Amino acid sequence: MSSTAELRAAAVEVLRENWSGSATLPSRRQYPHQWSWDSAFISIGWARVDVARARQELSSLFLGQWSSGRVPQIVFNTDADPEAYFPGPGFWRSAAATGAPAAATSGIVQPPIHSRAVLTTYLADDSSPEARRFLRALYPQLRAWHNYLHEHRDLGGAGLVAIVHPWESGLDNSPLWDTMLRDDHGFDAGPGFERRDLLHVRAGHRPTDADYLAYVKLATQYRDSGYADTGLAEHGFVVEDPLFNALLLDADLCLARIAEQLEEDPAPHRRAAEGLHAALMDRLWNADRRQFAARDVRTGKLSEVATVGCLVPLLDPWLDPRIRQEVIELACSADFLGGCDYPLPSTALTAAEFDRQRYWRGPAWINTNWLVWLAARQAGAAELADRVARSSVALVSSGGFREYFDPISGEGLGAESFSWSAALTLDFLDQLDPAG
Ligand code: DGY
Repeated sequence: MSSTAELRAAAVEVLRENWSGSATLPSRRQYPHQWSWDSAFISIGWARVDVARARQELSSLFLGQWSSGRVPQIVFNTDADPEAYFPGPGFWRSAAATGAPAAATSGIVQPPIHSRAVLTTYLADDSSPEARRFLRALYPQLRAWHNYLHEHRDLGGAGLVAIVHPWESGLDNSPLWDTMLRDDHGFDAGPGFERRDLLHVRAGHRPTDADYLAYVKLATQYRDSGYADTGLAEHGFVVEDPLFNALLLDADLCLARIAEQLEEDPAPHRRAAEGLHAALMDRLWNADRRQFAARDVRTGKLSEVATVGCLVPLLDPWLDPRIRQEVIELACSADFLGGCDYPLPSTALTAAEFDRQRYWRGPAWINTNWLVWLAARQAGAAELADRVARSSVALVSSGGFREYFDPISGEGLGAESFSWSAALTLDFLDQLDPAG
């Protein structure tokens, strides 16, 4: 694609084609429903070109919120074939769960970037009455979402939120979880277990069958417990993830800003963010390896491999300057920015687990690039931010709006016309070249 204007027009076209009437599908064929953190990223792109759609995107996601405050990973699209995606509504059976909404949803969650997306959408148009109404309507829903995480998901009891399934991390088959998934011998996934992802993408670019068996086992156990979050013993996977907790810290600070706009009390949200900062340092800073890590709550062990998720705590505004500098240096090192032509790889290039084309085990993704870019700007690391933004635009310019990219060759991989790649490109372009 030659010019910024053409790239921008092509990105808008992807979003328009994936619009379902009330939300944006991540990709029409492979992901024909509404995904939670996808929607948040997508609304940030819509806010650049059609703020009414950004508002509708986020409002429709919250129609899937449970009475506990849980915002589900997927809100199923009634216009799509229920068998088109596995696991679909028949697997999750949300209608049978206490407190589930009228819409069919999955029962797990995804990283909480929604308050940032709502604030961004509001600020794009903050003088209009529609923007005020939107903010007023979403505020209690965001509060309930954050309360659910802080109150029901602190399974380690030390002030951090735990995820109970690798899909909740958003980085499904990241090597961070390799040592944390229990042995799956003896689990029979049953006749409904049929992978649909492999109809669209080469097996070598997706999680393995062994990964899927573990995913289905954990999801089945959680579903059969009625999606109970009562204790450690029920779960086969309980992990405090640096990306998830750093995003919640950032989201709590965004919620404080939303509260201020509405003349509500921001203090509880700030306190929640401060609590996360203290717990992040206490529990997820791996002092031996000088990097943030994921903690297996059942064993207390910290992960060792460096992944892009370990860079996201750079979003924490209270990081000790020495630690901030170490995270920036890791991001700029030959493991990430400095070691390939199309950064950022999702797993350190020198790690034994690095696999340049397999989903979250090596490829570069536009959404994690966007998170590191945001964090780097906030941390004053202007050069890192600029290089990540330019790399992201180079990736979609040469590879198209693909789901992920080989960080060494730049080849586009996974789904085509992928919504968050298009949406976040709009945001990168507006910041890099506001007049373009
Ligand atoms: C998938 O199906 O690969 C999704 O990432 C799960 O949310």
